[in-house]
Amino acid sequence: MATASELAAHIRDIAGDAPVKLGLILGSGLGHLAGAVEGIAIPYSELPGFPHAGVSGHNPNLVIGTLEGVRVAVFGGRAHYYESGNSAVMRLPLEVLCELGADTVIATNAAGSLRPDMPTGSIMALTDHINFSGLNPLIGEPTDRRFVPMMDAYEPELRNKLLAAAKSEGVPMQQGIYAWYSGPSFETPAEIRAIRTLGADAVGMSTVPEVILARFLGLRAAAISTITNMAAGMSDEAISHEHTKAMAPLGAAKLEKVLRRFLRDL
Ligand code: HPA
Repeated sequence: MATASELAAHIRDIAGDAPVKLGLILGSGLGHLAGAVEGIAIPYSELPGFPHAGVSGHNPNLVIGTLEGVRVAVFGGRAHYYESGNSAVMRLPLEVLCELGADTVIATNAAGSLRPDMPTGSIMALTDHINFSGLNPLIGEPTDRRFVPMMDAYEPELRNKLLAAAKSEGVPMQQGIYAWYSGPSFETPAEIRAIRTLGADAVGMSTVPEVILARFLGLRAAAISTITNMAAGMSDEAISHEHTKAMAPLGAAKLEKVLRRFLRDL
């Protein structure tokens, strides 16, 4: 398997040497943002060791290029724990991101809302997470670097810049705590009541392992959820992957405005 530095060299051969500033991981139904980048799309299948992000609604390309004047690497699709049983599946892509020069990663996802005042179509900046899965992508990491502190894992300064960008754009953006549930089945209403009691505001099947890996690798991290449904038992709304993909564009339009403004103001 190619190492992260070999892959980064290969990517630089294709997409040019200029260092990348920031990585963006796109969640379900948000893949179109990759098309907004002026640059080069490299299919994951051409990057040995990159996951086969096989979930419909994802776009498994790494796009290197410029968005609002900032050199970015956009992961058009992520791999999830539930696809392979490997929670460290995004480690190599994030290592490559570091090798390309990035110091920051912003993860996006589709999520269910646990808050009646945060309906479908809302966007939410993560302030923290609850790892409801009990899994950890650093299990098996042999060095003491595995003991990663998770205080302010979602960096307040970065989040404040995203909130300021949302405000400038007139886009309401909530803040809240995201609970990671392994998936791929959705949660039961009893599980949703439980994680609500524990303090979660939104629930989803991604992002948490990536943020743990990002902090392990020394990347600054932020994450934004687009709310595609009320969580199980909270409304009569359908809960399905089809529904997630159908509803993601509501939040995606807001998210794109916020991210563009954030990048412009960097
Ligand atoms: N639960 C878990 N993941 C999700 C949901 C949900 O309700 N909606 C979108 N992704």
